[in-house]
Amino acid sequence: MKIRKIKKLHYFSGITISVFVGLHLFNHFYSIFGIEKHIELMNSLRLFYRNILVESILLIAVAIQIYSGVKLFSPKRKSTFTFFDRLQIWSGLYLSFFLIFHVTAVFGGRWLLELDTNFYFGVAGLNTFPFLIFFIPYYGLSILAFFGHVAAIHNSKMKHTILRITPRQQAKFILAFGLIWTILIFYGLTNHFNGVTIPAEFDVLIGK
Ligand code: HEM
Repeated sequence: MKIRKIKKLHYFSGITISVFVGLHLFNHFYSIFGIEKHIELMNSLRLFYRNILVESILLIAVAIQIYSGVKLFSPKRKSTFTFFDRLQIWSGLYLSFFLIFHVTAVFGGRWLLELDTNFYFGVAGLNTFPFLIFFIPYYGLSILAFFGHVAAIHNSKMKHTILRITPRQQAKFILAFGLIWTILIFYGLTNHFNGVTIPAEFDVLIGK
């Protein structure tokens, strides 16, 4: 397949995934208002994405995104690399790794363990020692990589200065926003640092 076609595929699957991820990360952010509120919002959002049509589109988009991203990855395409060029490549590679494991875990949890993959499924490991040593960087980098990838694309595509803010500065703003969003999500998912009591049905996830 020609590079131009692969780029187009990557663009459209990227937009499709970003709509879901935008809602998904807003849902996680919403946990700063409490676990009940997070679950309530997830139940409403599930009306949109938890059906055979939307989930199939999403899964196909994830597969296309990873395949096309790996195809586009060629360290020799340029002779010089800026910070944002490097960020685009590394964040894309991490997102590919993360999405494969994350989506497999969610569907494994739902079909094999027959669990409700809600708030507690997402954060059981994050709130339990020693699993949190893995889950803090695993989730933290996933959110940062998402915003990092968006910032790098913005930096390469945006041509306009807004209120004297250059495209490069705008991209840095997206990165800073991603960092703040990550901190807020962690604040909510660890229930404001007071700890989360994981219901017994999720014990299987934390070796109990
Ligand atoms: C703190 C970080 C995250 C946590 C705790 C988390 C947790 C979860 C949970 C619990 C589900 C199941 C949702 C449901 O059953 O309704 C899920 C699904 C999913 N998540 Fe995440 N997630 C995180 C970050 C991300 C990021 C950064 C991405 C993408 C870049 C992502 C992509 C997905 C996808 C594609 C699904 C599958 C949706 C489906 O088809 O049902 N997640 N996540």
